[in-house]
Amino acid sequence: MHKIHTLENGFKYLEVSNTLSHAKIALQGAHIFYYAYKGGENLLWLSEKSAYEYGVAIRGGIPLCWPRFGSIDESLQQHGFARTMLFELLSVNENDVSSEVILKLSDTPESRALWNHRFELVVRIVIGKTLQISMSTKNFDEKELFITQAFHTYFRVSHISNVVIKGLQNSYYLDTLIDEKHKEREPLRINQEVDRVYMDTDDFIYLYDKDRVITLKTIGSASTVVWNPWIEKCSKMSYMDKNAYKEFVCIESANAFDDFILIKSKKIHTLSLEVSF
Ligand code: BG6
Repeated sequence: MHKIHTLENGFKYLEVSNTLSHAKIALQGAHIFYYAYKGGENLLWLSEKSAYEYGVAIRGGIPLCWPRFGSIDESLQQHGFARTMLFELLSVNENDVSSEVILKLSDTPESRALWNHRFELVVRIVIGKTLQISMSTKNFDEKELFITQAFHTYFRVSHISNVVIKGLQNSYYLDTLIDEKHKEREPLRINQEVDRVYMDTDDFIYLYDKDRVITLKTIGSASTVVWNPWIEKCSKMSYMDKNAYKEFVCIESANAFDDFILIKSKKIHTLSLEVSF
């Protein structure tokens, strides 16, 4: 079953459900902001203060960072422009236990003014027993292009003090807060601001939270970003309550920093993530 909703301000989102799961996906940014399994609650963190309006990214769910992750490129806004652009809904294919949604963003005069490339970005979301999302970038230029990108997934957790992230041990990471590289030796616990880019990460990462384990399987990526703003930064974040840092951790399947992707003319690169809750 699916339905398109239009808010009073014109903001549109798609609601899809089957016997196993239920999701809400904004057409702006192909942004999934709600995913529940078997009548449960939202498994993604979503800020109560989030805006739902064109030009502002929803705070929570899975924003897409594309064609840039971060703010290294001065000519582009932080995390690129895809998260605030309107995607075209190409198809919804459903059966009893899963729903597949395909959305597309193509270059426009507006995108070419920001980033002068001809591209197609196809996002495929499948909800069912797991949550799957992929983004495929096709280069329609005659010349090569490069991207950095991420699924900026906000995971809702019981309390940040219960979180242990496994699977990053032995990876080197750039601690962007102090601009230093270190090697991760232990499973990661979060008790301070964390903003790190782990390099050469495994395909599987595990988020332990109290009595459950969330598994992330990523393909097409060699870097993973872990972010929690902690107390001070959280109080300054837009569309976020000052205590929100206790409720989520972002584990972002990425192609970031040295793990940038070069795409030759007419070629495609796909980044995909499957989350089992
Ligand atoms: C993370 C970055 O991916 O996103 C952080 O590593 C940043 O540095 C965070 O603060 C949130 O970014 P934004 O643009 O959504 O406020």
